[in-house]
Amino acid sequence: MDRDITICEVGPRDGLQNARTIMATADKHRWIGALAAAGLPEIEVGSFVRPDLVPQLADTAEVVGQALTIPGIVVVALVPNAKGAERAIAAGAHKLTVPVSASRAHSLSNVRMEPLQAVEQVRRIIELAHTAPHRPTVEVGISTAFGCSIQGHVSEDRVVEMAAELVEAGADELLIADTVGYGNPAQTRRLLGKVVTVIGTTPVIAHFHDTRGLGLANVAASLDVGIRRFDASVGGLGGCPFAPGATGNIDAEDCVFMLESMGFETGIDLIALAALRERLKAWLPGERYSGHVA
Ligand code: COA
Ligand code: ZN
Repeated sequence: MDRDITICEVGPRDGLQNARTIMATADKHRWIGALAAAGLPEIEVGSFVRPDLVPQLADTAEVVGQALTIPGIVVVALVPNAKGAERAIAAGAHKLTVPVSASRAHSLSNVRMEPLQAVEQVRRIIELAHTAPHRPTVEVGISTAFGCSIQGHVSEDRVVEMAAELVEAGADELLIADTVGYGNPAQTRRLLGKVVTVIGTTPVIAHFHDTRGLGLANVAASLDVGIRRFDASVGGLGGCPFAPGATGNIDAEDCVFMLESMGFETGIDLIALAALRERLKAWLPGERYSGHVA
């Protein structure tokens, strides 16, 4: 499949970590299977974090194992530290995504580490992954890159500096995340433009939350500076439980609709996504579903 844009669906991780319901492992597998059938090339299926803190994702090893039986998808799992990376590598995940906060306050709340300690963990995770037999890809994500709901302002220069440092540490891919939906299109163009210039050929993925309704505007601004990879979730589920006020990711249906109507190929079947959204509402009642096109 020729695609101009790669979308990674993050609902089974970003969406579930904030959900009221603990979803059955079998339903997660149906969800992931339906996403793959709709043409999603990458799916973040869970996280290897403390199960007592995020019980919704305690079954991630099993979910990864089932996802690996689906042909043609990249199976992604979030890991906050070396212990999480060991678990993800043992489960066979194709790609690890490691969050590092640009905000000190969010770093302490989310992963209980100073940002410097978190970067140290990144180095250990890269070493573990790159020496593992199946050599999973390591994506490092800079969380709260556009602002933080605990600390407030986040320095743009600091984000660019971190991006360079993480690539130097060996990150295969870099994700820039607006964890709490603080970004606007001018800021997006400026910040991502600088990041792209500084880090060279390492792929950059943009991760937006639609907390204040600017998620898709920020996707459009990212396109202007050459970004071609985005995270999104069907139904716009999502939100970090350790960042107050965070709401859902950008809605995958709206994102696919916008990109396709702008002339980009996503390889994703919009009608299948809309149908999946209805199934999700039955699996996860009482969640906040966003989006327009469905
Ligand atoms: N998976 C499972 N257990 C883990 C773990 C992981 N990735 N990392 C640490 N642990 C366990 C340790 O083995 C230890 O267990 P023990 O007491 O039985 O020996 C215990 O947790 C404490 O270990 P420590 O290294 O001190 O970790 P911590 O308590 O400071 O927790 C995190 C750090 C990051 C693992 C934890 O804060 C966490 O899971 N946060 C969730 C973050 C998240 O999901 N955010 C949203 C997505 S970005
Ligand atoms: Zn997120």
